Amino acid sequence: MTESHEPIRGAGAARGTAAAIEFDRVGFAFEGSGRPVLEDISLRVEPGERLGILGPNGAGKTTLVRIALGLLSPTSGGVRVFGRSPSQARAEGWVGYVPQRTGAELAFPLSVRQVVEMPTLVGLRPWARPGPEAREAVEYALGVTGCGEFGDRPIGRVSGGQLQRAMIARAGVAAPAAAAR
Ligand SMILES: Nc1ncnc2c1ncn2[C@@H]1O[C@H](COP(=O)(O)OP(=O)(O)OP(=O)(O)O)[C@@H](O)[C@H]1O
Ligand SMILES: [Mg+2]
Repeated sequence: MTESHEPIRGAGAARGTAAAIEFDRVGFAFEGSGRPVLEDISLRVEPGERLGILGPNGAGKTTLVRIALGLLSPTSGGVRVFGRSPSQARAEGWVGYVPQRTGAELAFPLSVRQVVEMPTLVGLRPWARPGPEAREAVEYALGVTGCGEFGDRPIGRVSGGQLQRAMIARAGVAAPAAAAR
């Protein structure tokens, strides 16, 4: 990140297996902006490993996450997510994401449960129903985040904290849904 001028480094685990997330010398600048947001970022996150990214407001944390999700393309360097391009990993449901700002889903007439179920519908044919493992992942996510008791309420009519819980539940459903396919 530009503030520290120090690239973030991963745990340095052995190469060979697909990392959950791998950044190789990633740089990024928004179009029309001379100053890069990210410079020479290399990191490797293993499946099951947790990584926290700390930095002041505007340091580039969200930009880094959006690159990992394939929502922004790096200006230089390479990114792999579970051995795939970020956009492919996202399209296949390998990644879940709790956005800093929640947006569009609030406008739709969906229940909390329907929002949490969304990742299980990725890649299904129209009218097909998710399988038992995907349904189990939804029930588990609703339970562990404490969303069960307001699961049938419209997503636009829950509190801010309840909404955040629903977004965390939905993010947790993504990977099991992909693994079950
Ligand atoms: N769409 C955009 N176009 C141009 N510049 C942007 C855009 N989004 C963010 N920036 C700029 O890029 C830099 C990094 O922003 P980013 O959102 O990644 O920061 P952050 O570390 O997530 O900050 P915060 O802690 O405030 O969430 C900031 O200087 C910001 O103003
Ligand atoms: Mg941010």
